[in-house]
Amino acid sequence: MTKTILRALAGETLPTPPIWMMRQAGRYLPEYKATRAQAGDFLSLCYNPDLAAEVTLQPIRRYGFDAAILFADILLLPQALGADLWFVTGEGPRLSTITTPSELDALKPLSAIDETLSPIYETVRILAQELPAETTLIGFAGAPWTVATYMIAGQGTPDQGPAHALKAENRAVFQALIDRITEGTIHYLSRQIAAGAEVVKIFDSWAGSLQGDDFHDFAIAPTARIVAALKAKHPDTPIIAFPRGAGERYTGLHAQTGADCIALDDGVTAEWAAAHVQTAGCVQGNLKSSHMVTGGADLVGETKRICAAFANGPHIFNLGHGITPDADPKNVALMIETIRNG
Ligand code: CP3
Repeated sequence: MTKTILRALAGETLPTPPIWMMRQAGRYLPEYKATRAQAGDFLSLCYNPDLAAEVTLQPIRRYGFDAAILFADILLLPQALGADLWFVTGEGPRLSTITTPSELDALKPLSAIDETLSPIYETVRILAQELPAETTLIGFAGAPWTVATYMIAGQGTPDQGPAHALKAENRAVFQALIDRITEGTIHYLSRQIAAGAEVVKIFDSWAGSLQGDDFHDFAIAPTARIVAALKAKHPDTPIIAFPRGAGERYTGLHAQTGADCIALDDGVTAEWAAAHVQTAGCVQGNLKSSHMVTGGADLVGETKRICAAFANGPHIFNLGHGITPDADPKNVALMIETIRNG
């Protein structure tokens, strides 16, 4: 029987939506923290196929989610392209910056990126073997704009200011960087699919800061290019696009990107999205992740409201963004129980 997530992605309305959760393998789980300590640090965990597969499987064992997402990070591609990457505890990622033509020229060619990324494909192969028969394996990458914001600033930024500045001051370098990341992403996702990923997701966490034509040029167009290239090579692999913060621009994105599913953040209501986005295809989302911290009647009520709003079309239940380290694992169980058993 076809797996539930693949059925929803093919456009089927299911009586109970399939469920997974962004950052489902993460610091809210004691078993994740133990394996991460064993690996030494976050990047060593990403590049250790046995341990990365182990943390991917942990939330499947604990909760029986309908999908597992490969354990890796969107910033491994810039590292494979030649950027230095490290994580500062309690602060987040740091990268060497790419803002000049010579820095751009010094990036590695596509033919060299698998020297860094091959352990990730090995993790995918292990997971394709070890996952339960009913669980779907999701691969992923960052969208070019979001990845570029980190490569240009060298870290996370509240308003993506450095990337907007480069876009305004040196459009040619900025566009060339977007193109390099786009090509790298097509290669990287294609290899994940070849290794056994059944669905891929493109994370555009900072799409919402693109205004006017920039939203089309740097959120929609690169994603559409990735989707078209992947569909040409792997026509049967569904693609989820997550342009976080798109707001009313979520309308029309199935057609504009070619993605099979649009993932919604919690900035739009499920009722609005059912009327304006789900009419064009499968949607994923969009419970506020803070409910995983606070739990209780609000969590149950909001979960039921989202299920009811999306009940008449294809829907994959998820949060609007990743679960946070302060979440209570019991609240995840309560969310799943509410979806599956009312
Ligand atoms: O969802 C999953 O469980 C799969 C694995 C995954 C991670 N990162 C693991 C991770 C995925 C899909 C990502 C995507 C990612 N990474 C995004 C896009 C999604 C989003 O959250 O908006 C972004 C912007 C990144 C970059 C990144 N990685 C940041 C900004 C940080 C630091 C913030 C933080 O939460 O600490 C990371 C680290 C990271 N990536 C962790 C995990 C589990 C925490 C690392 C740790 O264990 O210390």
